[in-house]
Amino acid sequence: MLRMTGENRGARAPLLECGSGEYSHNHKTLAPRCCFWLASHVNVRKCVAGVMLLSVLTILFYSYYVTIPLTSLVWRDRIPRPLTQCSLLASQQQAARDHRSDARLRIDAKVLVIVESAYSRLGRDIAELLVANRIRYKVEVAGKSLPVLTTLDKGRYGVIVFESLSKYANMDKWNRELLDKYCREYSVGVVGFATPSEETLVGAQLKGFPLFMHTNLRLKDATLNAASPVLRLARAGETAWGALPGDHWSVFRANSSTYEPIAWALREHDYETDGERMPLATVIQDHGRLDGVQRVLFGSGLQFWLHRLLFLDALSYLSHGQLSLSLDRWILVDIDDIFVGEKGTRLHEEDVAALLTSQAALQRLVPGFRFNLGYSAKYYHHGTPTENLGDDALLKHREYFNWFCHMWNHQQPHLYNNVSQLEAEMMLNKQFALEHGIPTNSCYSVSPHHSGVYPVHEPLYEAWRKVWDVKVTSTEEYPHLRPARLRRGFRHRGVMVLPRQTCGLFTHTLLLERYPGGRHRLDRSIQGGELFQTVINNPINVFMTHMSNYGNDRLALYTFESVVKFLRCWTNVRLASAPPLALAEKYFQLRPDELNPLWGNPCDDIRHRRIWSKSKWCGTLPRLLVIGPQKTGSTALYTFLAMHPTLKPNLPSPSTYEELQFFNNNNYLKGLDWYLNFFPPSLTNNSQITFEKSATYFDGDLVPRRAHALLPNAKIIAILISPSKRAYSWYQHIRSHGDPIANNYTFHTIITANDSAPKQLRDLRNRCLNPGKYSHYLERWLSEYSVHQLHVIDGSMLRSEPAVVMNTLQKFLKISPHIDYNKLLKYDPKKGFFCQVVGGEKTKCLGKSKGRVYPPMEERSAKFLRRYYTPHNTALSKLLVRVGRPVPHWLKDELSANG
Ligand code: A3P
Repeated sequence: MLRMTGENRGARAPLLECGSGEYSHNHKTLAPRCCFWLASHVNVRKCVAGVMLLSVLTILFYSYYVTIPLTSLVWRDRIPRPLTQCSLLASQQQAARDHRSDARLRIDAKVLVIVESAYSRLGRDIAELLVANRIRYKVEVAGKSLPVLTTLDKGRYGVIVFESLSKYANMDKWNRELLDKYCREYSVGVVGFATPSEETLVGAQLKGFPLFMHTNLRLKDATLNAASPVLRLARAGETAWGALPGDHWSVFRANSSTYEPIAWALREHDYETDGERMPLATVIQDHGRLDGVQRVLFGSGLQFWLHRLLFLDALSYLSHGQLSLSLDRWILVDIDDIFVGEKGTRLHEEDVAALLTSQAALQRLVPGFRFNLGYSAKYYHHGTPTENLGDDALLKHREYFNWFCHMWNHQQPHLYNNVSQLEAEMMLNKQFALEHGIPTNSCYSVSPHHSGVYPVHEPLYEAWRKVWDVKVTSTEEYPHLRPARLRRGFRHRGVMVLPRQTCGLFTHTLLLERYPGGRHRLDRSIQGGELFQTVINNPINVFMTHMSNYGNDRLALYTFESVVKFLRCWTNVRLASAPPLALAEKYFQLRPDELNPLWGNPCDDIRHRRIWSKSKWCGTLPRLLVIGPQKTGSTALYTFLAMHPTLKPNLPSPSTYEELQFFNNNNYLKGLDWYLNFFPPSLTNNSQITFEKSATYFDGDLVPRRAHALLPNAKIIAILISPSKRAYSWYQHIRSHGDPIANNYTFHTIITANDSAPKQLRDLRNRCLNPGKYSHYLERWLSEYSVHQLHVIDGSMLRSEPAVVMNTLQKFLKISPHIDYNKLLKYDPKKGFFCQVVGGEKTKCLGKSKGRVYPPMEERSAKFLRRYYTPHNTALSKLLVRVGRPVPHWLKDELSANG
């Protein structure tokens, strides 16, 4: 290798010498010469570079040929067995108790939670558990007077929960009597939690009850009372071995037959002999035999996993089934990234065999269970030779699994801005499926890293429908990854998006012993912890795992077999599985309110930003919304705002005329991209504030919530004139638009139509009169936006003194430069309104449809409307005073005219 030709020998002579045969003859002088040569030619930099190159090559070689196969061989010898310590598993599942009785019909499915303080830990735990189970609740701080408990002849709350049992026992007499009366009259039960006390009490009586408590205990080995009528979700018969969380448990002792234990435990340091050990009641039921009020009392909070089940059971029991959760739980396990994994992390033939064995075992506990395999075929046969056999084994047993398509190359769809490119990629995967007999009819797909599902990437939805007829997908990102209990589903362009749950396994969790935080962390999650609770709290669970979780020590098989067994052991839930399309249909039957999406701003969530196309923008979303209502001067205001150099209106919409009407109607379902296209980024002036005006936003049912979800920091501007004048102007407006009903009836007939009038007439009456109930709608806006974000304009003043109104508005918006609208607007005597000054003396006024000429309102209609709007106007005046805003002249006049 070191020999060189004669031509280049001259330049490299020493090298030739160093490695030539001369060395053997002359080695005594050659060695020092070589060293001398090296020292003079190989400088430090070259040396370091050489060493680095060598190291990189070694690492690559080592990791490729040695580490991974070796590691996996080592771990393959230590495949963990699923956790199965449960004597009940062999026994048949009994039908769970039904708590329903007619008493439930007199109470609402809502819980009143009385907490010690707004920030207390247990109060938060209770609220979170209720949210996770979609149970409606209201929180009140103890000590205040009780909220209203009834609506007509119905109880507003099915159960009253006291975060602190002692606060309940020591309630002031008046409130306690009121509460007891309510509980007795509506058969409403009470839940109370013993909270840690500073002093250790031994046999202390709970005030007002023949019940005695020991506090500050450490306990172990919990069991449930199989005879307790409260148990429904929870199944008795097993023991939760080991120390119970916390050092401050309370236990109950009673000498009245009204009390019956629901759960027991033993003292931690009990030095007595086994025979003398006394189970201590940690959760107790009061049948209400003494005072007619049923109660369930807990000796500790919700940190102990079993208490979460018992709490849900207590709500179900005490509300006579009004707060019972369904016992059905559906589980779908996706195995993503089939064929995608790195060498050394992929499946071998025996892993596929184990997958099938585990699937069969799971099917016995979860009817209909099948692993759902999502593949990216580009990486088929990209493993070691043994792993390639694993790929083949999967295909050989393809009919035993469900399959769904992933992206061909596992690329994130949001990186494609072009539908045809996405389609071409998807077609490659489909071609592979057809060639290898993989079923293509699941109508389900999952996108790598959730990309394109939410925030929505329209080309993905389009390509999915075209190539795969996708009708269902799932994501953890809607509305956000965290908190998990708030994840929801939605439907977009015919694709049902299911919320996906987290099972704790990620692409890189390959080995149980290397589970982040240690093996015990995963075991805790399975045995009553997060994973277990996820299944309890969600009727439909879609879990994502990856191919790599099923190789090595088959961590995922361990996880799912263990959790399913634990669920069967400790609960009466009925586990089942079904293909994704059937699950999605079930999900939206259960939660039809989730079908319509609620679009958030992708830039407000760093994870969403990462999976959103670079070609999209959100910096130009409106920071200002003019919400109307209609016929109050909203167009004039919009025009005046657009004259300000800092403010930029949306692009005109060819389909909806001047207004976008995004938040209030079906345009919303067209998606965020549709809306964003009206607010393109400016090439010249990025400091401009964009705004939009749609006058029907004011009274749109869904608008405040939708607007707040997307534009939480926006300023909201409402314009109000006399509601009677507004109603009359609206009538004239729709008449001139040829509305047949309005043209057939007089204004007076419409506004005075009663409930026996024809439906069309009633509908028109409502559309005419309702927006004028200003306080009602403003309250709804104020339930989403803070009062500092809302500005109310006096519409009559905008008409008579627009410059003054615009002056105040600029201050509210804190925009500069401050423009003197006296210079921009001029009264046009012909039109009878202020119009925009254009080129010296000329003016440009709003079109014919604004400032119409029509006969004055009949006096009898004016009188009717004055009376009709009086309560609403009074409420508006109170609202404005409450939020510190001036009461407009027209409102004062109308109120005094009536007064
Ligand atoms: P009329 O046409 O009944 O007079 P909107 O733009 O919200 O639909 O409101 C239309 C109303 O704005 C008109 O109702 C008119 O009274 C009022 N308005 C206020 N300032 C105006 C202006 N400068 N030019 C035209 N109309 C104005």
